[in-house]
Amino acid sequence: DNPALIDTFGRVATDLRVSLTDRCNLRCSYCMPAEGLEWMPGDEVLSDDELVRLMDIAVRMLGVTDIRLTGGEPLLRPRLEDLVARITALEPRPRLSMTTNGIGFAKRAQAFADAGLDRINVSLDSVDRETFERITRRDRLPHVLDALAAARAAGLDPVKINAVLIRDLNDHQATDLLRFALEGGYHLRFIEQMPLDAQHGWDRANMITADEILELLSAEFTLTPSPAERGGAPAERWLVDGGPAEVGVIPSVTRPFCAACERTRLTADGAVRSCLFSSDETDLRLLLRGGASDEDIANTWRETMWGKLAGHEINEAGFAQPLRPMSSIGG
Ligand code: GTP
Ligand code: 5AD
Ligand code: SF4
Repeated sequence: DNPALIDTFGRVATDLRVSLTDRCNLRCSYCMPAEGLEWMPGDEVLSDDELVRLMDIAVRMLGVTDIRLTGGEPLLRPRLEDLVARITALEPRPRLSMTTNGIGFAKRAQAFADAGLDRINVSLDSVDRETFERITRRDRLPHVLDALAAARAAGLDPVKINAVLIRDLNDHQATDLLRFALEGGYHLRFIEQMPLDAQHGWDRANMITADEILELLSAEFTLTPSPAERGGAPAERWLVDGGPAEVGVIPSVTRPFCAACERTRLTADGAVRSCLFSSDETDLRLLLRGGASDEDIANTWRETMWGKLAGHEINEAGFAQPLRPMSSIGG
């Protein structure tokens, strides 16, 4: 077994990102409208048993070594600790991480660590309470700060922070965020905004580019390229003031890293996607619920990945945003 998930460009997908729900308890303005979206019907969302079956196929038959849980907001999934324990009991054991907004995580951090969660990436765009509320439309900054501290205390390592900068909202707080991360021992990464918002409000002219981010940080810090191997990771890493502390920049739009992509994705309703920006996806839920064998499912997954495009086409003429927003594909 284990003819891996390869595509026609020779890339091998070893990193599976699983969206557990399309719901969220924040309303980040660059992601969702204030009123939320039309959520997936409950009967279309995969059950824990279905998810575990697919993840078992992925690690046992398809060469997946790393799994990341995403959303929407993955913590909204009931009894997530139990699912985490089932995933880390798979053989071979995948490394397991989660991308979360952190709300409600603090009191569950130790339970997640005990269940085998290896690390988390927490979304945090501002450490100023008012700015946080303007971006997320919720006054929840203290919950996120508690989540970060609790993650570190529970031994999750590294604890990363993902920040999106929005012009005239939080772009002039980039150095505040970095100072906060350095003091707390968190790995901060700044992300270029991609055209994946539900409202289709993305505007290239308004996006804070990787180069702009580096310039904003340079007002207060000296950045030099990190010698660390990047591999398939999305972040360019920079040493801060000579290191060892680092800051990352994820330049998805201006310096795409698609050629080194190692990702395959599963949506909460059971579709496999070869890319965030795929124009098509394959429904595995039908197979699962129709009594397909593990071999059938593995083969369908392989076929989907074989069709992976060279990269996103954000910078090409005629680019069209995918039908699903990021909150429904998985971050
Ligand atoms: P690490 O393993 O910790 O490096 O995780 P990660 O950076 O892959 O995952 P995370 O969920 O923290 O994603 C951070 C950001 O990377 C997202 O907000 C996206 O902007 C970007 N990103 C994630 N997946 C993809 C992808 O498949 N393609 C592109 N272009 N960007 C992605
Ligand atoms: N472009 C880039 N990153 C985004 N995120 C949400 N929407 C976008 C977008 N359009 C980030 C969130 C979170 C991660 C899952 O994705 O801030 O950190
Ligand atoms: Fe929710 Fe994440 Fe979108 Fe914010 S970025 S609204 S936390 S899905």
